[in-house]
Amino acid sequence: MIPFSPPKVDQRVIDEVIDALNSGWITTGPKTKILESKVADYVNSPAVLCVNSCTSGLFLMLKWFGIQEGDEVIVPAYTYAASANIILHCGAKPVMVDVKEDFTIDPNEVAQRISSKTKAIIAVDLGGLPCDYDALINIVCSDKYVKYFEPNNENQAKLARPLIITDAAHSIGATFANKKVGSITDVAVFSFHAVKNLTTAEGGAICLNLPKCFDNKSIYNTLRIKSLHGQTKDALAKTKAGAWEYDILEPGFKYNMPDVLAAIGLAEIDRYEETLKKRKAIYDAYSSLFKNYSWALTPIYEDDKRQSSYHLYLLRIKGFSEKQRNLLIENMAERGMATNVHYKPLPLLSLYKSMGYKIEDYPRSYSLYKNEISLPVYFNLSLENVQELGQALIEEVESLL
Ligand SMILES: Cc1ncc(COP(=O)(O)O)c(C=O)c1O
Repeated sequence: MIPFSPPKVDQRVIDEVIDALNSGWITTGPKTKILESKVADYVNSPAVLCVNSCTSGLFLMLKWFGIQEGDEVIVPAYTYAASANIILHCGAKPVMVDVKEDFTIDPNEVAQRISSKTKAIIAVDLGGLPCDYDALINIVCSDKYVKYFEPNNENQAKLARPLIITDAAHSIGATFANKKVGSITDVAVFSFHAVKNLTTAEGGAICLNLPKCFDNKSIYNTLRIKSLHGQTKDALAKTKAGAWEYDILEPGFKYNMPDVLAAIGLAEIDRYEETLKKRKAIYDAYSSLFKNYSWALTPIYEDDKRQSSYHLYLLRIKGFSEKQRNLLIENMAERGMATNVHYKPLPLLSLYKSMGYKIEDYPRSYSLYKNEISLPVYFNLSLENVQELGQALIEEVESLL
């Protein structure tokens, strides 16, 4: 049996977690703070806040920017639902745009859909490949579009353009023009969910990188308060003898990361480059196996500007229909090999269909989705298993052609 994405739990992870359990403090505290500073150093971001998921981190940023009913947020049609559901939670409208052949948001489509109501753009580094940030930032910051922007609060007036957010759920360690994701756009939010490259079981990290007119460290404090009921002191500070007094400044959320989970991430962050190397070797092995098959549309994971974090190996089978792809997944499962689909474009989901979004308006998203099959990539996947799975896939595809 070859599973799709089991977590990497070795003695080093177990030791870190036991250390947290034995420390006398298991919720947000010193380990979470260390993880924040290690992530900040790793991606070169001036301030990083750990939270309990990427979803809550993205939502917190939309709330911080004051996104509300009447506003629009641009999001790719090809992503996981979390990227768009958070826009609905703000009462705002997700404006979906199509993606390019490499699965990332199409900056030209963004240019066409920016309006005076656009308050943010959420760019998703799908599978770990960074979006075309040069093009995207140029469009969003160009005078032509900036003049549409109608701020309705202090932060929006200060930025004077839509907020550019990277949904970096997949892309910790990926680079664009030699900069790590987390130091490219105004904000990037990583996911540390159990299946991600770097995990804390559940969790996320907000990397702040706002322009000079903002103080990223002070925004970190604002967000920390927002992520903990609007409370002026966190639980650790409040438990210190005599330091009970606190205040509530706003109706905040409960999004903090506990130390017991931060410990899992701490075990990984110092050796994460090694993880990336292993993941790249798996990508290279798949791509070299498929290179002589004209039906194999292998994913881009490096080009002159970008380097992926090698999160999802998004293979496509040229000419396959949805039905053939689904059959292929079933046949692979019968051979004990788990494969997957990332993702069903949002307009195909009942929720978004019922809101009037139509897949016909996103032809590239559909054409990518219908023949996409994600192959396993994880640290403990041996290159022998990659060969075995790749060979089985070749046989199954050829029997269905
Ligand atoms: C593209 C994308 N964005 C956001 C998320 C949400 O991440 P989390 O589960 O940490 O909230 C995911 C999760 O898979 C994702 O794939």
